[in-house]
Amino acid sequence: MQTATTRHWDDPLAEAAPPPGIRPPVPDNAGNGAAPLPNAAGVNGANGANGASTAGASDAAARGGATGLETIEMGASRIQVDDKQIINCRADLNQLVPFKYAWAWDKYLAACNNHWMPQEINMTADIALWKSADGLTADERMVVERNLGFFSTADSLVANNLVLAVYRHITNPECRQYLLRQAFEEALHTHAYQYCIESLGLDEGEVFNMYRELPSVARKSEWALPYTQSLGDPDFVTGTTENDRRLLRDLIAFYVVFEGIFFYVGFAQILSMGRRNKMTGVAEQFQYILRDESMHMNFGIDVINQIKMENPQLWNDDFKAEITELILDGVRYEKLYAEDTMPRGMLGMNANLFKQYVDFIANRRLSQIGLPEQFAGAANPFPWMSEILDLKKEKNFFETRVIEYQTGGALNWD
Ligand SMILES: [Fe+2]
Ligand SMILES: [Fe+2]
Repeated sequence: MQTATTRHWDDPLAEAAPPPGIRPPVPDNAGNGAAPLPNAAGVNGANGANGASTAGASDAAARGGATGLETIEMGASRIQVDDKQIINCRADLNQLVPFKYAWAWDKYLAACNNHWMPQEINMTADIALWKSADGLTADERMVVERNLGFFSTADSLVANNLVLAVYRHITNPECRQYLLRQAFEEALHTHAYQYCIESLGLDEGEVFNMYRELPSVARKSEWALPYTQSLGDPDFVTGTTENDRRLLRDLIAFYVVFEGIFFYVGFAQILSMGRRNKMTGVAEQFQYILRDESMHMNFGIDVINQIKMENPQLWNDDFKAEITELILDGVRYEKLYAEDTMPRGMLGMNANLFKQYVDFIANRRLSQIGLPEQFAGAANPFPWMSEILDLKKEKNFFETRVIEYQTGGALNWD
């Protein structure tokens, strides 16, 4: 079980956290209460006596971890906490308890406590501003449209990666419980973007097709797709060093780069408009999404670090160098996105400030998964982004909610 000494990335204000080193990126073994677990072959033997289907053990060895869809074995030994592991686990996946990874369950509970719906946010001021001829500059309109273009399809991509590629290979019930919650939140996010697009009366065909028509929007999704395509292959199974690394690579590409770097220029752009009292409804939607995304990323980082701890053979120097390159690749793409969405300065911001921000964020992400920072001295040019994450400070949150739920189609803000 977890002990008080285990550190996890559960702080949504992590961007404001002290320099790396205060919180060790990789939890220590003692803190987790379990010695590093054996690899797939070793676990297979151990679990024969610990609740997994002994009859199916040889089949299981051929197909990586359990799925939860195995035939029920009547009278099998009860699950022990040490039977559980994040990947390649052969113990029954349909039993949530006993908990081994309390951080995953805690994040599930926290996510449920953060529940919100897009229709709760009043879009009236945004609609008036958007329709007013001189309400926004052309550059401001472009920032709104391109970000809705990127995010409206990006969250579907993240959800599809979770459901069709990642979920099957994460062999732990409390982590799966969080993944199910995350998948629903991704649906809410796509809903929120659709809701903004509908409220503003944008051309939905144009916005939803930006990721196939506008290179600056397409590039980041194109970059991420090979990682999920590799894992979504129905014949893909974990249980070898090569394939376990493929899973780890996908998790890092999506949780650390896609949700942890690719979302941040867009979030900062929209939230900075909200701070200037422009598009406050869209900004509020983004604020709730950012809070969710921060937790998704921190959950993913905990999963990544736990897999590394349980399978130390995966995290060798070559793989660390490859992952560092992968993150640097992500940094390059996010900087291009900053240039494409903000070719000229606006609202006291410009692409160079966003590039500094990407360097700062990338250092954080690297250190969170135990890799050296690559951008010496990168400072956060937007300290307010850390504060904005803490919605508890937003005294007027509930006051801004629309009291009665309505369907999007029934809404008329005019
Ligand atoms: Fe999302
Ligand atoms: Fe997410």
